[in-house]
Amino acid sequence: MKKYFTTPIYYVNDIPHIGHAYCTLATDTLVRYWRKKVGKENVFFLTGTDENSQKTVDAAKLAQKPIDQYLNEMAKNWRTTWEQIGIEFDDFVRTTEKRHVKKVQEIFQKIYKKGDIYKGKYTGLYCTGCETFLKESDLDLNGHCPQHKKPPQKIEEENYFFRLSHYGDRLLEIYEKNRGFLQPESRRNEIVSFIKSGLEDISISRETSEFGITLPIDGKHKVYVWFDALINYLSGLPQGEKNEFWDHSCHIIGKDITRFHCVIWPAMLLSAEISPVTEVFAHGFFTIDGQKMSKSLGNVVSPLTLSEKYGNDALRIGLLSSFEFGNDGDFSAANFDNFYRSRLAGGVGNLFNRVIVLVNKFLEGKKPKKLSIENDELRNFEQLFEEKKIKSAIDYFFSVVDSANELLNKEEPWKLAKVDIEAAKNVFAILLQKLEFLTQMAEILLPETYPEMRIMLGDEECTGEAHILFQKTDE
Ligand code: MSP
Repeated sequence: MKKYFTTPIYYVNDIPHIGHAYCTLATDTLVRYWRKKVGKENVFFLTGTDENSQKTVDAAKLAQKPIDQYLNEMAKNWRTTWEQIGIEFDDFVRTTEKRHVKKVQEIFQKIYKKGDIYKGKYTGLYCTGCETFLKESDLDLNGHCPQHKKPPQKIEEENYFFRLSHYGDRLLEIYEKNRGFLQPESRRNEIVSFIKSGLEDISISRETSEFGITLPIDGKHKVYVWFDALINYLSGLPQGEKNEFWDHSCHIIGKDITRFHCVIWPAMLLSAEISPVTEVFAHGFFTIDGQKMSKSLGNVVSPLTLSEKYGNDALRIGLLSSFEFGNDGDFSAANFDNFYRSRLAGGVGNLFNRVIVLVNKFLEGKKPKKLSIENDELRNFEQLFEEKKIKSAIDYFFSVVDSANELLNKEEPWKLAKVDIEAAKNVFAILLQKLEFLTQMAEILLPETYPEMRIMLGDEECTGEAHILFQKTDE
């Protein structure tokens, strides 16, 4: 079985914040689940950067840097941030790379030959924040883009258009045949009714762009950033659609970009006669203390700040456990800190330390007879991962931590060992079995703590040395 996972490619006009990290960590966690299940070589994980947009040009100007230098520095920043927080991608694609430019031109030619691209005049309202044209009806009462709170630019220019309007029925057929094409269900319903309301052709080139991929049929035009960006999913996969991974693709995206991924992208693929993507999962957004995260509010949180203070595993599991994957939710520094203290340091860390210290003390580290892990327990966890219910899988992990801590407090094996060593051994056997189960789940949920848990659990015969898994942080 093969699995191909992707994240959106991120705009390089800014540095990564925890919203971006949330998406990338969720994908990395799903990837770790599948790597463990079907083998590392059967999973391909792609991420990267989206560089050919007007906002990048504007950002480079603001930074007073030549565009190439700016792009190289920013792409490196994204890549190393992901590496620092423990993301294990198989490839990182940049839309300024040759392999990408070549693929965009190839797909453009295919769609052009099909007769799905034509030249026309366009008058419209362009928002550089969204990198898309907006309709009058999309604007707020002030005539501003509701998301970016800025007036869009009025643009009149010659553009090339893609005949999206021809693909409504065939898109609906995809939704009909493949129930899981877009998840969660609520997003699917939204997009299906959007398609049913009638699709318009879209502009896919810009005459005025200072930067980007030149149209192979007209040197004056640059490919529109979204038409270009979506193709990363093919250019970043060796041999693109010919790679067997392609037929097992899953795009993880934020809910803000579903129309691009679930209407335009599959229509582009249909036109280029490439089989459509298998699955798209659109997750929700989180606010910070109830407010939208934004530079102007000064509440942008860097994933690196959290990982430096609490560690990569805390960042991962803390973000992913805030709300169910697919829903919206909130982040607050106080809740995060509380989660670290009570669930990680006080919960998992304390449990491992206590059990191993006790076994080392009362049984001289010799493991009592091994109890095997119930298949049902693992299956529950796997089932949640297969449904991408990441938060529920984390909750399940902590329910095992809680039940082990309760057992420890109830049975008090340190007292029992003095009066009935056989009874104490039975309690330790159950506790060690729970620790083993938690360690198996931690390989996915707490990948940097996992090797330390293994060391503490020791080998078949004996436990290892006890130590503290989650250090106390400074106030
Ligand atoms: N470049 C495009 C994507 C092209 S994919 C072919 C883009 N980039 S982005 O950097 O603006 O955002 C990428 C993704 O970051 C969003 O889709 C979303 O997944 C994630 N998030 C950005 N802010 C977020 C939150 N506040 N909360 C959760 N996710 C957020 O769009």
